[in-house]
Amino acid sequence: MEIWFNPARELELLLHTTAGNTPGFGDQPFDPEIRPSDPRFGDYQANGILAHAKATRANPRALAATLVEALKKDGSLDDALISIEIAGPGFINFQLKPAFLDAWLTRYANVEAFRSECATLYAGRKIIVDYPSPNTAKQMHVGHLRPMVIGEAIARMLQFCGAKLVRDNHIGDWGTNFGILIFAIKHENAANSLDSDPTTALEILEQLYKKGSALAKDNPAMMEAARQELVNLQTGDPENTALWQRIVAISNAAFQQTYEQLGIRPDITLGESFYRDKVERVYTELHDCQLAEESDGALVVWHDEHPRFARNSERPQPFIVRKKDGSSNYASTDLATILYRTEHFQADECIYITDGRQQDHFQQLFLTAEKWFHATGRRLPSLRHVWFGTILGEDGRAIKTKSGDPVRLKTLLHEAATRATVIIDEKNPGLPEDERQHIAHTVGIAAIRYADLSQNRTLDYAFSWEKLLAFDGNTAPYLLYAVARIHSIFRKAAAGDAATPPAPLETTPEVALARKLTVFPSALVQACTELRPHFLCTYLYELAGAYSTFNNADKVLVDEPTVRARRLRLCARTVAVLSTGMRLLGIEPLERM
Ligand code: ARG
Repeated sequence: MEIWFNPARELELLLHTTAGNTPGFGDQPFDPEIRPSDPRFGDYQANGILAHAKATRANPRALAATLVEALKKDGSLDDALISIEIAGPGFINFQLKPAFLDAWLTRYANVEAFRSECATLYAGRKIIVDYPSPNTAKQMHVGHLRPMVIGEAIARMLQFCGAKLVRDNHIGDWGTNFGILIFAIKHENAANSLDSDPTTALEILEQLYKKGSALAKDNPAMMEAARQELVNLQTGDPENTALWQRIVAISNAAFQQTYEQLGIRPDITLGESFYRDKVERVYTELHDCQLAEESDGALVVWHDEHPRFARNSERPQPFIVRKKDGSSNYASTDLATILYRTEHFQADECIYITDGRQQDHFQQLFLTAEKWFHATGRRLPSLRHVWFGTILGEDGRAIKTKSGDPVRLKTLLHEAATRATVIIDEKNPGLPEDERQHIAHTVGIAAIRYADLSQNRTLDYAFSWEKLLAFDGNTAPYLLYAVARIHSIFRKAAAGDAATPPAPLETTPEVALARKLTVFPSALVQACTELRPHFLCTYLYELAGAYSTFNNADKVLVDEPTVRARRLRLCARTVAVLSTGMRLLGIEPLERM
C-alpha cells in the first residue's frame, strides 16, 4: 500500500469506497466517521459502523467484521503498516505501525513535500479573502488586530492548500462621515496640518472628526453645512474630491506601517468608493427581479422566510440597500462587490473577516445575494462570514486605556516588543545587541498574534501580557523556543550525520513523536475547512509537547550512528512541521533565541 500523507483522510475514503463495494453493507452510503482515538488503542477509530448498522438493521460487530475482512482482502491495508482491530460494540481501531511511521518520515521530508500534497485540497479554487478592511480616517486600535491576524492566517493556510488567493482590502473609504470631516477641516482651517507624517496626520483627522461631529450635533446650521459638504463630494466637487483623496491616502499610508509590521500584503485595495458607480445596477436588478421594494423612500429587501429578517418579525429589520436620501450604503456596496468579484475575478468563494457584530449584515447580504443571483441565473460564489469575538482586558471588560479610549494598536505592538526585550536580554545576555533586538521584536509580535489565533475565534478572550509572553503553555514563545532548541542540536551535529541511514524507530517517545507528526495534514485540513486557525495552533502545541517529552527522555547526539541519525531525522521533521505551521500562522521561526 501507499504511504498516506494524511492517514485520517485516506482511511475515510478507503472505508467509504470499500463499504460501497462490499455486498451485505446495504445500499446506503456509509460515513466511516474517522476520529482520532485514545492513543492506547490506536491512532484512528471508525465510529460510523454503529449508525450504519442501526440504519440497515444489521448487527454492528458483524458489520464491522465484514468491512475489516474486505479491507484485508483487497490489500489496500497492509497489516505490516497498519493494524486493524474491532473493539466494543462495533468500533474499528487503526494503528499506524512503526514501519508506516518510518516510511512517512522518509517520504514527507520538508515543506515542499507537505506543500505539494496539501495543494490538491483547494487546487485552483479562486478564493477572495476580504480583510483587514479598516475604515479610513481612524487610527487602528486593538480591535483591528483580529481581522489582520486571523485574515492573514486563513489566507496563508488556504494558499498553501492550493487556492488561487486574492487578498482584497475592502476599506471603508466612502460614506456620510466624510461630510463631517471635510466640514471640520474647512471650519478649523486645518488642511495644512495634514502635511505631517501619515501617522500624525491620521491622528489629527481623528481629532477633527470628533470636533466636527460635536459641533454639528449642537448646531443645525453646522449640521447642514456638513451635509452640504457631503453632497458636494458625492457630486464631484473638485475641492472636496481632492480633500477626500488626501484623507484616504493619509489613512492608507498610516495603515501600511502596521501591515508591514504584521506581514500583511493585500493584493488589491478596492474600497467602498470603488463601487459607487456600480450600485445603480444593483438597485435596478433587485427591483426588476422584485426582491427590493420602496419603503419610506428607501429601497429595502425583506426575507420573509427568516425569523428575524421578515416583515412581520418582532423587531423588523429590513436590509436597506439604498438610503432615503438616495445614497448608497454598506449593504449596496457589498452587493455590488459580490457581483464584481463574480464577474471580474470569477471567484469561487468569498470569505469575509469581521467582528461578530456584523453577523446580521452578512446573513442578510448572503440571503439577498442568493436570491438575486438565482433570479438572474448567475452562479453565486460560496460566501462565508468568518467572525470573531472581542479582546477583553484582564478585568473581563472590553480593553481600554485609563482614559477610556480604545488602546491603539501601535502602542500595543510597541509594548509587546519592549516587554519581550526585557525577557530576551535576561535570558540571552551573551547575544549581540542587534540580534537580541531582532529576537525580541519577533517574539513580541508573535506572542500577540499567537494569543489571538490560538483561541477559538468566535469566543471573546482576555488579553494578558503575562500569559502570552510565557515560555511555557500554549504560547508563541514556547513554540519558538522548541524550534530554536532543535536548531541548537543541529549546530552540534557532525557534518557526516546527514549521510548515515537512520535505524528504525524504537523508543516510546520516538514513536509517539512520529505519530504526532503524521497528524499535521489533518490538523491543517480541519483549520481550513472550519476556517479556524486555533486547530493548527493546538496541534503545533501538542507537537512541541511530544518533542519535548522525546528530547527529555532520549538523548539525540548518542554515539551509535544509526540511532543518532534516526533521532536527528525526528528533529528535522519536527522543525519542518513546526516552522511550516508557524509560518502559516504568520510567525517567522528563529534559529536562536
Ligand atoms: N470596513 C468594515 C469595518 O471596519 C469592514 C468591511 C468588511 N468587508 C466587507 N466587505 N463588508 O467594519
